[in-house]
Amino acid sequence: MQKRLTIGKHSVPFPLIQGGMGVRVSGHRLAGHVALNGGIGIIATAGLALNSEHYDGKNFFAADRQALIDELRKAYDIAPEGVIGVNCMVAVSNFDDIVKASCEAGAKLIICGAGLPMSLPGLTVDYPDVALVPIVSSIKAAELITRKWQKSFQRFPDAVVVEDPDTAGGHLGEKPEKIGTGEYDQYATVRGVKAYFKEKWQQDIPVIAAGGVWDRQDLQYALDQGADGVQMGTRFVVTEECDAADSFKQAYIQCGKEDIGLIMSPAGLPGRAIKGNLEQIRQRDLDANQRCPSGCLKKCAYKAGQERFCIVHALDRAQKGDMQTGLVFCGSNAWKAERIDTVKDVFEELFPPTERDAG
Ligand SMILES: Cc1cc2nc3c(=O)[nH]c(=O)nc-3n(C[C@H](O)[C@H](O)[C@H](O)COP(=O)(O)O)c2cc1C
Repeated sequence: MQKRLTIGKHSVPFPLIQGGMGVRVSGHRLAGHVALNGGIGIIATAGLALNSEHYDGKNFFAADRQALIDELRKAYDIAPEGVIGVNCMVAVSNFDDIVKASCEAGAKLIICGAGLPMSLPGLTVDYPDVALVPIVSSIKAAELITRKWQKSFQRFPDAVVVEDPDTAGGHLGEKPEKIGTGEYDQYATVRGVKAYFKEKWQQDIPVIAAGGVWDRQDLQYALDQGADGVQMGTRFVVTEECDAADSFKQAYIQCGKEDIGLIMSPAGLPGRAIKGNLEQIRQRDLDANQRCPSGCLKKCAYKAGQERFCIVHALDRAQKGDMQTGLVFCGSNAWKAERIDTVKDVFEELFPPTERDAG
């Protein structure tokens, strides 16, 4: 089962990326400990300004950049030799700045979702060792990105994450009416992306399956189906080291399958979440009658005044433990959570020490 994962210049003992989870659900602690245990640890960059000592209510973008630099430094304090990267949402207004700050602060990978990162290689041109990894949910998206990157930058992705909209947590790259119809075939997409690079470009690009991987059996299945590795989010929320408040983790432990569903985010994308308190979230922002303070997303119905609910603040409140008016994103497997493990426990279950290769 043990199979190293190499992405660009970076290599880890286990074929596992911990998915970026905003807002501050995968901060320095979770990412640092995943890296320490032999996986790739990812800090979600979305909304880091909020809840940081740098934010004074007016300087969102400057604080966001500084909070990201702090977060990367603290993650490397935990795992100085580890492979630590960032997750950047293409949909945020300061995407370019956050990508550049990530490179400067030592991120080894940049994983990009919530949009197609067409300009990414241009932004990182001075940091050729930083691995560039788009998240897609279709072969077509992988083709579009690769054609653009080849034409404009003569660069290939260092890996591609294929995220399954039927199971993954957070914002999803598919129309809501197409989610859960049974039409989507995760591993056909994984194999299709892999074949595209091999046949069209003669490149062996690692393809990572994200969504719905909970235990060793799921991991083995993903590898057997042709994935080079997996990206896991939900399982890592219920770890001691996850950066969210304990009540966020308890919400996973207490929820049932029926509590998990889709919401429509003001960012214009569907998202998977524990959906029971959506009306309370809306009502809170209606009562507060506040306007968008930061303009953190390029396109946002809250910013435009059509939707009285700010997604980034709602996620931030949940991370801090407000289960009444906070939005708890989760993958479809959250109901499986029964207890809080350590990151080491998760790695030992997925990759039993008795079966690990020496060295
Ligand atoms: C709480 C939560 C927050 C998330 N936030 C982000 C995010 O900010 N950016 C992103 O690209 N993906 C985000 N995701 C998706 C994960 O990175 C991951 O790809 C996905 O959840 C994998 O599926 P799994 O949760 O079934 O393991 C989030 C997922 C969760 C559960």
